[in-house]
Amino acid sequence: MSIELFRQERHVCVMFSRLGDEGGDAVQSNQFLLVNGGTGAILDPGGNIAYHELYLGMSAFFPPHKLAAVLASHADPDIIASLDRWMTATEAPVYISRLWERFAPHFCKPGKTLGRVVGLPDAGERLRLGSGQDLFELWALPAHFLHAEGNFQFYDPVSRILFSGDLGASLGANLDPEKPVTALAGHIPRMEGFHRRYMVSNKVLRLWASMVRGLDIQMIAPQHGAPMVGAAVGEFIDWVEQLECGIDLFGAANYRVPG
Ligand SMILES: [Fe+2]
Ligand SMILES: [Fe+2]
Repeated sequence: MSIELFRQERHVCVMFSRLGDEGGDAVQSNQFLLVNGGTGAILDPGGNIAYHELYLGMSAFFPPHKLAAVLASHADPDIIASLDRWMTATEAPVYISRLWERFAPHFCKPGKTLGRVVGLPDAGERLRLGSGQDLFELWALPAHFLHAEGNFQFYDPVSRILFSGDLGASLGANLDPEKPVTALAGHIPRMEGFHRRYMVSNKVLRLWASMVRGLDIQMIAPQHGAPMVGAAVGEFIDWVEQLECGIDLFGAANYRVPG
């Protein structure tokens, strides 16, 4: 299943949500396709479960050899386990943190990623993708430890969507990922447990909050669960800024040899 999050002339953002057909035990996850004219990028393409639908969805906009980039927020299986298939079916490079540059090839057959992994520096980068009249920008924003040690979010300056990876994820059986959330309060129970355990520390959340407050964000689109729009964007930033999580909550009791 897919929905268009944004469309303006030649610029389209599509979310694939794999609603309810994950085959039972895999966590619901979103994959994103960004189209700019005759080219585009795939963001956090996911594992093998998601590959087929995303590939067909992309092919409806442009031929596979026109794909400019595969972008990975980090190296988890639900982010990039389908890398081998993308490396086979397209000619696109994969952009990922330098920390995972030499780990990601383990998802692929030997040699498949040769010369096609672009390691992003910790400071991030304003990526310029595509060429000619199809050229577009996508900003890789540092989001380290949210949750992976080398972790990026991607901001599209045209749609002003922040693709936030695991930050902002919501989980639960009664959740419709295709229905954007406009107010945060009722949504917090679907996010709290995940953020408290998967995000590393409040210090990092505060640094992230102060960075993204400088951006014009129309939507936060996480890799699991529903996107946030309107008032929920600012409310989410305020909420995580004061959230204790990860090592803030861990102590001696969490490090005992099991009986
Ligand atoms: Fe992850
Ligand atoms: Fe994830």
